[in-house]
Amino acid sequence: MSQPAPPLPAPPLALLAELTHRCPLACPYCSNPLTLERAANELTTDVWRRVLSEAAKLGVLQVHFSGGEPLIRKDLEALIAHAASCGLYTNLITSGMALSEARARALADAGLDHAQLSLQDTDAAGADLFAGSKDTLAKKTASAAMLRAAGLPLTLNAVMHRGNLHHLEAMIGMALRLGAGRLEVAHAQYYGWALRNRAALMPSRAQIDRASEIVAAARARLSGRLVIDYVPPDYYAARPKACMGGWGRRFLNVDPVGRVLPCHAATTIAELVFENVTEKPLAEIWANSAAFNRFRGAGWMPEPCRSCERKELDWGGCRCQALALTGDAAATDPACALSPQHDEMFAAAQAESAAPAPEFIYRRMDGA
Ligand code: SF4
Ligand code: FES
Repeated sequence: MSQPAPPLPAPPLALLAELTHRCPLACPYCSNPLTLERAANELTTDVWRRVLSEAAKLGVLQVHFSGGEPLIRKDLEALIAHAASCGLYTNLITSGMALSEARARALADAGLDHAQLSLQDTDAAGADLFAGSKDTLAKKTASAAMLRAAGLPLTLNAVMHRGNLHHLEAMIGMALRLGAGRLEVAHAQYYGWALRNRAALMPSRAQIDRASEIVAAARARLSGRLVIDYVPPDYYAARPKACMGGWGRRFLNVDPVGRVLPCHAATTIAELVFENVTEKPLAEIWANSAAFNRFRGAGWMPEPCRSCERKELDWGGCRCQALALTGDAAATDPACALSPQHDEMFAAAQAESAAPAPEFIYRRMDGA
């Protein structure tokens, strides 16, 4: 018997506009899929403009321009200006590698509201190693200054893992020096490239506990000066996070070729077919797409989620992680201690973090 369609949720809060998969960096924890899209397949400026208009009409409040590296798109300013004219709050998620003073000013003039800059490490050699590129730290610190000089509020985004967690305190200091109002300390999330590199990235329990202490102390010390967002790691958790705030509840992604996804890793779930903005209006996809409805709400859940009091708090955790670790996207996320696979997940984390770190497999266009 087929499952009844879940009730339609409120309009999505935010759209992640993945303009391109092209990127000057090759981070081994990149959230992009293993198979990356080439420039020739990317949506045109006109289609993106229509998508932004449709998003605003649907009720979306924020658009996050992302990639890959969105600065590679020459029409970025035009898209920001269009989004702003539709009343959308605009955020740019960038590596900052190709920024210039003129470009930073042009982005601000186009109506950009906020910039989010990635930092790989506070140490130049580590920053290059984790980005798979050269001279990254100097370019990024220069970019932070350019964004601030253009009057843009700045968030630094630091993906943390076994190789850079000992620099967390220094990362907080760097955020203050660079004039950021917010620092996102995000432990690597293991899908796509990060799953491939899991053993090279997995921290120990002691590293995680220390990081949590550092963040708690810094939050108390820097209250009013720096906001620190903290994304804890799943592998040592007792309960999962509500990935994306729940599948098809608050967010949608449009990927570089126009597929509309409930999360950035959704294409790993082979059973799902994703609709495309070149074929249907965004509102129709949000409301009726079988891929969005597959895990929307709580009706699809198996036990133990089905009868769990947290089912409408964490929405069963992450579908992509459930697939990656159990082979079944509808299984309880193994980050939950009630999942039959939880102990296995925890043991893998402990074993990998205790073994010598293998070399990185860097993000490459050909999937390496
Ligand atoms: Fe969340 Fe399911 Fe675990 Fe309950 S059993 S805490 S709903 S993942
Ligand atoms: Fe896809 Fe969590 S990343 S549901």
